[in-house]
Amino acid sequence: MTWARRVVPAAAAALAALAARDLTQRDHALLRNFPVLGRARYLLEAIGPELRQYIVAGNNEERPFTRDQRRWVYASAKQQNNYFGFGTDNDIEYTPGYPIIKHRTFGRAVPPSAPNAGHDVRLPCAKVLGAARGRSGAFRPESVVNISGMSFGSLSGNAVAALNRGAALAGCLQNTGEGGLSPYHRNGGELVFQIGTAYFGCRDERGRFSLARLRDLVAAAPVRALEIKLSQGAKPSLGGLLPGAKVSAEIAATRGVPAGRDCVSPSRHAEFSDCDSLLDWVELLAAETGLPVGIKSAVGDLGFWHELTDLMRDTGRGVDFVTVDGGEGGTGAAPLIFTDSVSLPFQQGFSRVYSLFAERGLHEQVVFVGAGKLGLPDNAVVAFALGCDLVNVGREAMLAIGCIQAQKCHTDTCPTGVATQNAWLARGLDPARKSVRAANYIRTLRRDLMKVAEACGVEHPGLIGTDSVEFLDGRTGSTPLHEVYGYQPGWGLPSADDQAALVRLMSGEAPRGGSAPPSPTAVS
Ligand SMILES: Cc1cc2nc3c(=O)[nH]c(=O)nc-3n(C[C@H](O)[C@H](O)[C@H](O)COP(=O)(O)O)c2cc1C
Ligand code: SF4
Repeated sequence: MTWARRVVPAAAAALAALAARDLTQRDHALLRNFPVLGRARYLLEAIGPELRQYIVAGNNEERPFTRDQRRWVYASAKQQNNYFGFGTDNDIEYTPGYPIIKHRTFGRAVPPSAPNAGHDVRLPCAKVLGAARGRSGAFRPESVVNISGMSFGSLSGNAVAALNRGAALAGCLQNTGEGGLSPYHRNGGELVFQIGTAYFGCRDERGRFSLARLRDLVAAAPVRALEIKLSQGAKPSLGGLLPGAKVSAEIAATRGVPAGRDCVSPSRHAEFSDCDSLLDWVELLAAETGLPVGIKSAVGDLGFWHELTDLMRDTGRGVDFVTVDGGEGGTGAAPLIFTDSVSLPFQQGFSRVYSLFAERGLHEQVVFVGAGKLGLPDNAVVAFALGCDLVNVGREAMLAIGCIQAQKCHTDTCPTGVATQNAWLARGLDPARKSVRAANYIRTLRRDLMKVAEACGVEHPGLIGTDSVEFLDGRTGSTPLHEVYGYQPGWGLPSADDQAALVRLMSGEAPRGGSAPPSPTAVS
């Protein structure tokens, strides 16, 4: 048939051209890795809301992140319209525990009128990290939103590089995760170096911690603080294993282990065995490096926290920051029972830990960092009201650089090149482009936090008090946050001096007030 002789080659040529275009473009990792085929995903994404709305699931049903939440992150990362039309589709009145943020009609801070005002506003930490304990490297973190620890090994090199560049663009910190400090972490972003149980990056040939290697490492990279990882919300008390097949020469060099052999992280540290020896080690690391030193932990049995805070109060030794990871937090891979059931969710775990510090008068001297789906503005606001000074974002930052929540991070087949060591898949992720998305997302989250703070009448999210949040009971009542978590008056806020310094820092940051100056007859 003559028409077939014409149409088939033309269709084949068009397909080949499309494939070539997909292979060479850099905007979409999925298309670079799966030319032409990957387009089906975009088609389904486009009609997905309709399909799901009528056939499968609602906007708020998917987990860990609902479609609304992902859409907000994607649109923010691409600087597209991230607003939602027609009003909420959340079941506010009938969802027990639904948090409500209470705006103020008249407050100290007045929101600017322009919708995009505040996008580039500085949002520094309310406390100077390390100042209370006189560390020589004490500093005020520039951003209340920072990138959570995710190792090179669980993330691809390109993903780590995209996040590091993004951190530099957004002026925030990137936590290395426990897999050491790789070349991909050296793209301009400042770092928190995480020390896990295997001491990757600061260990000797026998796998023992090496202070000399740690000193050399932090001297040769923009490391601003050290975080001792005790546990992680998604898999507390578990070690880890990177199979030999994934231990490439690059990973081996970064971690300080032999290439091609199974790489084991033990479940416990060898350098300390109780709170007393932990605090000695914290002071040793701080003295040797000058850096602020903190711990990261999920919250289960409170015995550890009782002992730690008692010792801090009684002996004068102490951590500079505490990162609390919620049980709803993410991981590259973990057994289901651990992701689902071991360790408390963020709000419950954090409030218990914060209360123990506050009861001993230590809360104003420690920087509190939260993690566990806090990269969404509503969750983050509650975290700040509970006393967080900083929030770390993990999976939300992954979404910003292209993650589609395929939940295959543990299989090395991540289709978007984010959580894989497969060179073909990782090559699809262009660090230069995705870094801009990571930065856009972080800036947008900061802007939203700022807007909510101003709606509550204060100059900074760290000044949102417990009286600004209450939880609905799913019927006709609600309970204020301080009652739910047993907070005393003043808890959740920085010291009076830190508050005053913060207000001074924030004043003049953004245009304030309504669209016109008051008329001559205005009543002040
Ligand atoms: C792929 C992946 C790798 C992670 N690696 C680490 C790690 O090396 N060290 C750590 O303390 N936490 C690790 N985490 C946990 C995150 O740092 C974070 O605490 C947790 O995911 C909660 O934040 P999120 O809800 O914003 O993701 C990892 C999480 C993910 C998703
Ligand atoms: S796309 Fe899927 S496999 Fe890749 S990082 Fe996201 S959730 Fe993990």
